[in-house]
Amino acid sequence: MALRFILKYQFAELVAKCLQARELAYCPYSHFPVGAAILTSGGTIITGCNVENASYGLTVCAERTAIQRAVAEGHRSFTAIAVTCDIKDSFVGPCGACRQVLMEFGTEWDIYLTKPDGSYKKTSLRDLLPLAFSPAHLAKD
Ligand code: THU
Repeated sequence: MALRFILKYQFAELVAKCLQARELAYCPYSHFPVGAAILTSGGTIITGCNVENASYGLTVCAERTAIQRAVAEGHRSFTAIAVTCDIKDSFVGPCGACRQVLMEFGTEWDIYLTKPDGSYKKTSLRDLLPLAFSPAHLAKD
C-alpha cells in the first residue's frame, strides 16, 4: 500500500539517514556538504549527497543524487524528502534545479529542511516552486 503520511519512527530514521548522507558528501571544491534522504511510499529510504567535479558545472546536488538513485532502484512514488547542510542558524531550501527535479514526481510529498542538530521545518513543493512547469503541461489535449 502506498503511504502518503509519515510515521514517527520513519521520520526519525529519515532525518538520521539524511544527516549520515551529508557525511559522505564529495565536496572538495565548495566544502559545503549536503545530505538528502527520500522516503518512498513503499517505506524505503534512499539517500544522496552532493558529488562535485573538477569541471565544476558537472556537480550533482544531494537531492538529485537521491532522486536518481531512487528511480534507478524502481521507486517513483515518494512520501517525503529530508535535506540538510552544515548551516546551523537557518533552514536551507533546495536549489532551483532540484526543486524542478523533485516536482517531476508530484507535489504531494513533504519536504523537511533539516538543521545539523536534527531540528526541521516542513515545507512543500507548492510553496517552494509556485506556478511550476510540470509533466501535466506536456499532456496533449
Ligand atoms: N548543493 C546541493 O547539494 N543541494 C542544493 O540544493 C544546493 C547546493 C551542493 C552543490 C555543491 O556541491 C554545493 O552544495 C555548493 O553549492
